[in-house]
Amino acid sequence: MSDAKTAIDYAHKNRERFTNELSEFIKIESISTDDEYKTQVEKAAEWAAEHLRQIGIENVKLMPTGGHPVVYGDWLNAKRPDAPTVLIYGHYDVQPVDPIELWETSPFEATIQGDYLFARGSSDMKGQVMATLNAVESVMKTGDFPVNLKFLLEGEEEIGSMNMGNFLPKHKDLFKADFCLNPDAGAISADEPTITFGLRGLAYFELHVYGPPRDLHSGLFGGTVHNPAQALAELIAGMHDENGTVTLPGFYDAVRPVTEQEREATAKLPTTPESYLQQTGVPALWGEKEYTPALRTGARPTLEINGLLSGWTGAGSKTVLPAKAMAKISCRLVPDQDPAEVQKQLMKYVEEHAPKTITWEVKSLHDSPWAITDINTNGVRAMAAAMETVWGTPPLYRREGGSIGVVAMLQNICGVESGLVGGGLPDDNVHSPNERMHLPTWHKNMDAFIHFFFNMK
Ligand code: BES
Ligand code: MN
Repeated sequence: MSDAKTAIDYAHKNRERFTNELSEFIKIESISTDDEYKTQVEKAAEWAAEHLRQIGIENVKLMPTGGHPVVYGDWLNAKRPDAPTVLIYGHYDVQPVDPIELWETSPFEATIQGDYLFARGSSDMKGQVMATLNAVESVMKTGDFPVNLKFLLEGEEEIGSMNMGNFLPKHKDLFKADFCLNPDAGAISADEPTITFGLRGLAYFELHVYGPPRDLHSGLFGGTVHNPAQALAELIAGMHDENGTVTLPGFYDAVRPVTEQEREATAKLPTTPESYLQQTGVPALWGEKEYTPALRTGARPTLEINGLLSGWTGAGSKTVLPAKAMAKISCRLVPDQDPAEVQKQLMKYVEEHAPKTITWEVKSLHDSPWAITDINTNGVRAMAAAMETVWGTPPLYRREGGSIGVVAMLQNICGVESGLVGGGLPDDNVHSPNERMHLPTWHKNMDAFIHFFFNMK
C-alpha cells in the first residue's frame, strides 16, 4: 500500500538530508554559457544522474546532444495497467554569477539565512529539480509508485536550449509521455500557488559596429570620425519610440492581440504596478501605456539591451575614440512571432538606419520558441488539486515573461503538454547576485508534488 500521507511524512523527516543534497548539487559550478565551466557542467549532469539512480530510477544515462548532455532516466513499473507516464523536466545548468562583488555570500556555497537558502541556481532551478526528485524519492521509498516516470534534465536551458531542436526529434519515442511536469516557472508569491500557461520566446543577437581599424586619440580625431560607441547608442536608442513601442519594421505584425477576456483575467491577478515597483526597486515603471505591467511582460513582445561593450571602462580615464562597439540585444516573443522573422526585422532596421560612417554586423546567438500550454489536461487538474490541498487555496493562472524553450518543442515534436509550476518567487534574484530560494515554499512544493503523483489519473 502507498499513500500521500506516508510519503509526506517521509519527506518531512528527511528535510535536513534533502537540504544537504541540494547544497552538494549547488556546489557544482554548472555555468552553461562559459566554455571554461564545461567540465563542471558535465559533473552536474553526472551528479544528477547518480542521484536519479540512488532514488530508484532505472535506465539512467547521459545522452550527447552536440552541446551539454541530457540526463535521461525512467521508471516504468507502475502496477495499474492504465497508469499514465509523467515526464519530469528540469535543467541542471545555471547563469553566470557576475557581478561577483555584489554577492554577500559565496555563490556556490549554499548559505541559509532565516527562511532563505542563498546560492546561484538555488531558485533557478537546482532547488526546484531537487524538490521534484525529493517528492519522487518520498513516494518511491514508501510504497508503489502510482504512475510511470521519465526524466529529461537538460544542461543548456539558460543558453536557449540550442541543441534541443536537433536532439528531441531523434529521440521522439523515448520522451513520449502523457504529461510533463515542469517546475521551472515559479509562482506569484509564497501564498499564491500558480500555474503558468504562457511563456515568451526569445531571439538573442549581437550588434557589432565598426569604425576605424584601431582605437584613435579622441583629441586628434574626435568630431571628425563618427564614434562607434555613439553610432551604436544612436541605433539602439531608435529601436523604441517615446511610448516604449519597438520600432523594428513589422515587429508587431504577427502579434496576437490581447483579448478583452484576457485583459479582465489579468487585471484580477495580484501582479499590480505596485508589486512590480516593490520587487524591482526602480523609482518608476516604464513601457507601453495601454498595457498593464502584467500584460507587458506576459502578452507583449519586447526588445532589451542585455549588455554594452565599447571603449575604456577600466579605472580612471583614457581619452580614446574606440574602434568598435557591441550591444547584446534580445527580443522576447509572443504568439505568433517567429524568431527568424524577427532577425530579418532587426537586419532591416539596421540597414535602414545605420549611417555610412560605420560598418556593422548582426550575429544571431540563439532563439527559443514561445509557448501556450493547455490547462485542461489531466496533469494540470491533478497539480491544481494538489496545490489546493497544500495551500488551502486554488492556484492562480498566469502568462509569464520568461522563456523555457523545451515547452513548445515537447508539444510540437513529442506531442506532450507541460504543466508549468515551481517554487521560484519574483524576489528570488534569479539571474542576479544573491539568488535565493524560499525554503517554506520549497517544502510545500515537495508536498504538492507528492499529492500530484497520487492525483494523476
Ligand atoms: N526559469 C527561467 C524562466 C522562467 C522564469 C519562466 C520565471 C517562468 C517564470 C529559465 O531558467 C530562464 O531564465 N530561461 C531563460 C531562457 C533564455 C536564455 C532562452 C530566460 O528566460 O531568460
Ligand atoms: Mn530555470
